[in-house]
Amino acid sequence: MGIQLKSVTKSYGEGDVKTKALDDVSMDIKDGAFVVVLGPSGSGKSTLLNVMSGLDSLDQGEITIGGARIDQMKDKELTAFRRKHVGFVFQQYNLLHTLTVKENVEIGARLVDEPHDPMRLLEDVGLKNHVTKYPFQLSGGEQQRVSIARALAKKPKVLFCDEPTGALDEKMGKVVLGILQRLNKKHNTTVVLITHNAGIARLATQVVRLNSGKVVSVHDNKPVAAEEISWGE
Ligand SMILES: Nc1ncnc2c1ncn2[C@@H]1O[C@H](COP(=O)(O)OP(=O)(O)OP(=O)(O)O)[C@@H](O)[C@H]1O
Ligand SMILES: [Mg+2]
Repeated sequence: MGIQLKSVTKSYGEGDVKTKALDDVSMDIKDGAFVVVLGPSGSGKSTLLNVMSGLDSLDQGEITIGGARIDQMKDKELTAFRRKHVGFVFQQYNLLHTLTVKENVEIGARLVDEPHDPMRLLEDVGLKNHVTKYPFQLSGGEQQRVSIARALAKKPKVLFCDEPTGALDEKMGKVVLGILQRLNKKHNTTVVLITHNAGIARLATQVVRLNSGKVVSVHDNKPVAAEEISWGE
């Protein structure tokens, strides 16, 4: 699914403490794109992702995902839309600690009628031999791979990732990015990935830079493989 934003504005607070987290943001993301959003801390990256995905409300503007105006949806309709079409991966993996690896992915699969097979996905992300473990028995990178498998289990059309490699070292970070890149190609899933690591931009088909809540540049890119990028540039 493609995503379009038209003059989106979002502020937090009132009066003296009012912060314009998004200031007249417009974007056009093509179906199947791999978009990397770059920007310094506080530039509005997480706000953009939360608003773009319908997790958070906007003040003004329009957001369309796959032709549907999500800013006009009622809560119930939006929740159902997100549940069906949208996946999330966060820096802090958000796994359920009392469930095994396989059970965590099954939670994602249960959200839709025709999910991916959790075992196939776990094999895909290189965790076939860890399925009966609990999250605390895994490394950070392995936990992140479980959270990716969980997000993908419902075959989302769009995958939003907020600093998915923020807690990982270079080696594991590249493994995780390689998986996202491969899945983007294999399933034509649109990926929007936020990072402050400029090296990661080389993976993207489109690079968006934010500063002080504004889009300061958008450019198309010919993506390279995850192993090729330089970390923390
Ligand atoms: N819930 C909130 N209440 C008040 N202000 C907020 C809230 N969330 C974000 N902000 C403010 O909005 C601005 C953008 O924040 P945001 O979290 O989107 O930045 P970011 O680019 O994701 O930063 P980081 O790289 O540190 O994660 C910041 O000035 C922040 O202080
Ligand atoms: Mg953030």
